[in-house]
Amino acid sequence: MDFQLTPDQMELRDMVRDFVEKEITPHALEMDKDGVLPPGLIEKMGDMGLLNLVVPEEYGGPGLDGQTIALLYEELGKGCAGIATSIAANALASYPVLIKGTEEQKQRYFDVLNAGKLAAFALTEPNAGSDAGGVMTTAVKDGDDYILNGTKAFITNGGNAEIYLIFANARKSAGIRGLTAFIVDRNAPGLSVGKKEEKMGIRASNTCELVLQDVRVPASSRLGREGEGFRIAMQTLDSARPFVGAVSVGLAQAALDLSVRYAKERRQFGQPIASFQMIQAMIADMAIQVETARLMVYKTCWMRDQGLEFTKEAAMAKCYAADVAMRVTTDCVQVLGGYGYSKEYPAEKYMRDAKIMQIYEGTNQIQRLVIANKLLY
Ligand code: CAA
Repeated sequence: MDFQLTPDQMELRDMVRDFVEKEITPHALEMDKDGVLPPGLIEKMGDMGLLNLVVPEEYGGPGLDGQTIALLYEELGKGCAGIATSIAANALASYPVLIKGTEEQKQRYFDVLNAGKLAAFALTEPNAGSDAGGVMTTAVKDGDDYILNGTKAFITNGGNAEIYLIFANARKSAGIRGLTAFIVDRNAPGLSVGKKEEKMGIRASNTCELVLQDVRVPASSRLGREGEGFRIAMQTLDSARPFVGAVSVGLAQAALDLSVRYAKERRQFGQPIASFQMIQAMIADMAIQVETARLMVYKTCWMRDQGLEFTKEAAMAKCYAADVAMRVTTDCVQVLGGYGYSKEYPAEKYMRDAKIMQIYEGTNQIQRLVIANKLLY
């Protein structure tokens, strides 16, 4: 085992760290307050090559391995988990095309991402969350086209994506075996963006409803065969969940760093609170958890890169790192006391941002089901 980062990985990580420190961290609190990004930020992230991180070289992307991508998501997670979520949603929306796209579909889809645009993965619906197979959106064959009707909910980048990966049921009577994935352009007639969610955390990311009213999609935009959608969605989530872990690790690291800085500065009873063993124990426990979560994320990405079976490890890494982010950010608020609870410091934002890590891309209860299924059956 080699735990040393390569010179290329270090160079890339430092470049992204520098970008995050200059362009993201200084705006994080204001983006959280208003839920609006500074003008030009998406374009700058596109220019930095952050929006097509999973695109292979042969399709114009950087062709990075999963472990390197995780390193970069970690840096983004340190700066703002909302922005990191928007960027990671591009990876989530890319995997279905990587898994099942034809050459033509890959070229078309990845050209959009290479041009610095956002994409969105639209699986969830008001009544199909954990039960992803319960999608009610329909895809009815009409000549060489499909007509899509339905409503998608909680779609990350829903309001500012240029291209969508939409799951609909093409054979209602077949249940999850009817689920089918389609590539849909933003300007497709009948596709509209519904209400924007006012969220507790990750407020810099755009989360919207998507409404599909008689959206006509050519059969050439269908990924794989009719009925292959559920498998594509599950394989996609396997690939993307470790990146939720990576963002969680970055977020938890930021909370740990803040706790360390504050504990050294804050004086009570005539000494820095860092000299009190109860604070020291909290900080040591935070560090243990961040490091173990990081190792799980890296190992899972490595397993995927090696072509090994990694569904269980992906669920473990996502679940554990998200729980760590929640615990560490909560302890960060505790270390900062009243200041942790105040908006003067980012601790309370970290805690609000952490909660979604336990919910999206499969709740941590679902991750535990996936893990138990792999162990018991
Ligand atoms: N890889 C390949 N195939 C898989 C698979 C995997 N990881 N998991 C399941 N399958 C296949 C099974 O083999 C089975 O195939 P057959 O019918 O041929 O036997 C089929 O899929 C059905 O599997 P299950 O019976 O296990 O399906 P289920 O209905 O019990 O559901 C579940 C399983 C794990 C609960 C799944 O529904 C799930 O993961 N739910 C969570 C959904 C989720 O993560 N949503 C996130 C939305 S995206 C998001 O949050 C993005 C964002 O905003 C940032």
